[in-house]
Amino acid sequence: MRLMSSASAANTAVIVLAAGSGTRLGEPIPKAAVRVHGRTLLDYALEGALASGVAEHVVVTVPADCSASCPELLEDARRAGALITAGGDTRTASVVAALDALKDAQVPVDYVLIHDCARAFTPQQVYHRVIEGLGSESPQGVVRAVIPVLPVVDTVKTVDSAGLVTGTPSRAQMRAVQTPQGFEVATLLAAHERSRSLPAEEAELLTDDAMAMEAAGEPVLTVAGDADAFKVTTPMDLRVARALFGDSAA
Ligand code: CTP
Ligand code: MG
Repeated sequence: MRLMSSASAANTAVIVLAAGSGTRLGEPIPKAAVRVHGRTLLDYALEGALASGVAEHVVVTVPADCSASCPELLEDARRAGALITAGGDTRTASVVAALDALKDAQVPVDYVLIHDCARAFTPQQVYHRVIEGLGSESPQGVVRAVIPVLPVVDTVKTVDSAGLVTGTPSRAQMRAVQTPQGFEVATLLAAHERSRSLPAEEAELLTDDAMAMEAAGEPVLTVAGDADAFKVTTPMDLRVARALFGDSAA
């Protein structure tokens, strides 16, 4: 059995996903370039990732036409010393592009933390909890995937296509998932490879990286997330973010 090296800053990269358009936010610029108190969401996300000290290597995915549509994102990423790559059409495609960029640049990493730039205000402790979970022992074996989660506060219903309630799953066992999500790179690549060979209808049900690991039978450990790691998704979220910083426009 291969011995796992433990995660250290030298063998870890943070991937900051910033290639989305932000359709639900509805701003005329990519979401990562939206400003709160004068700074872009990407700038905040990079500041948190770097300050956590968990990784020496940083990769940022940006929209493909970024040099024309969002040069400020390129500036932010360069200032942070990040490797920059164009994202794909979906979040998963952007993750794959970032992993390819690391491989092409021959950056020797054993672990990645995959982070949504939209969770721009994620506290450093969340990064630390994720890193500490990687390589730990679980009843299902060594942990190679760690995700930060929060308890679900709303009652959740399942519904049918007519909008009629079909069930009420127990909230006690439910968790809302945040980022950064941590993975051993070799196991994540194998899980992605495996999901590529699934029938299309099964593959498209795998909406995040942890699901690919779950489908591969890997234990996925949850650690505590943080309310401050909320995702800026809707105009209301942006109002909240701006209000937290005392922006007069909020
Ligand atoms: N993301 C990415 N590449 C994509 C889609 C999303 O890098 N093709 C990134 C986004 O920039 C974001 C994170 O993944 O930081 C989480 O995605 P989400 O919050 O859904 O952002 P968007 O896809 O931009 O927003 P929307 O779904 O409202 O269009
Ligand atoms: Mg999206």
